[in-house]
Amino acid sequence: MSVTFNGKSGEVDGDGWNLMDTDNRSKYRCRPQISVCWIGAAVVCLVLLLTMIMVAQNTSAISHWDTKFEKLIYEISKSRDDLRDERDQLKIQCSNLTKEMESLQSQYNTLAASRDKLQEDIDMLTHNRTDKPCNHGWIKFNNKCYYVSPNGVTKTWENSRKDCREKGADLVIITTKEEQDFVSGRNGVSWIGLHRGESEDEWKWVDGTGLVDHGFWQKDEPNNSDGEEDCVEVSSAAMAWNDVPCKRKFSWVCED
Ligand code: BGC
Ligand code: CA
Repeated sequence: MSVTFNGKSGEVDGDGWNLMDTDNRSKYRCRPQISVCWIGAAVVCLVLLLTMIMVAQNTSAISHWDTKFEKLIYEISKSRDDLRDERDQLKIQCSNLTKEMESLQSQYNTLAASRDKLQEDIDMLTHNRTDKPCNHGWIKFNNKCYYVSPNGVTKTWENSRKDCREKGADLVIITTKEEQDFVSGRNGVSWIGLHRGESEDEWKWVDGTGLVDHGFWQKDEPNNSDGEEDCVEVSSAAMAWNDVPCKRKFSWVCED
């Protein structure tokens, strides 16, 4: 519709907007844009606000996790330190126990040696105390029984020993001067239970023990004069020992 306003004509539409001239239109054109701007600004502000809240929340969450993580690291480190302390304590305990064990072992060895010695003493005392009877034909001397071969009977060292063993005994082992004198004066020349060992200078008794001290050798004996004097005789004439070939035949003395 055409109208005249302030001497100016124009078109009026339903909203009356077209009553304004072009200048006025441009004057009032910004009004709807201002609303849009405000809304846009509000939206932007809102978005910014939300972003800030989210960032704040995230920062708070990160900070919260940082704290938890630090606490966890602290607890793990503490557990590790506690375990190290425990390990060191166990090492010290182990070392102390090892020392204690060595000391106990040493005490045990000493006690075991004492026990064995005491047992030996008991055995010896029991043996000495016992009034050991000797078989018929045997001679008792210092609570030991001796057999002296019959007059006129001689044997090699091996066969003499065999005879003793058949009697449940063995050739005599001389350990004291008393015993030496007792055996020497018996029966002319007699075999005793001493023979050469692996080497020239080694002498062994029939029980496998070695000759202790110097023995009761005749002067300049043993001399192994013919190179095979591996057995020992004692004579009533010399009252001392001499090495002679084992195949020789003499009397013999057994000891039970
Ligand atoms: C020697 C002894 C030797 C013996 C052998 C003696 O003349 O003095 O050392 O054993 O003969 O029968
Ligand atoms: Ca000799």
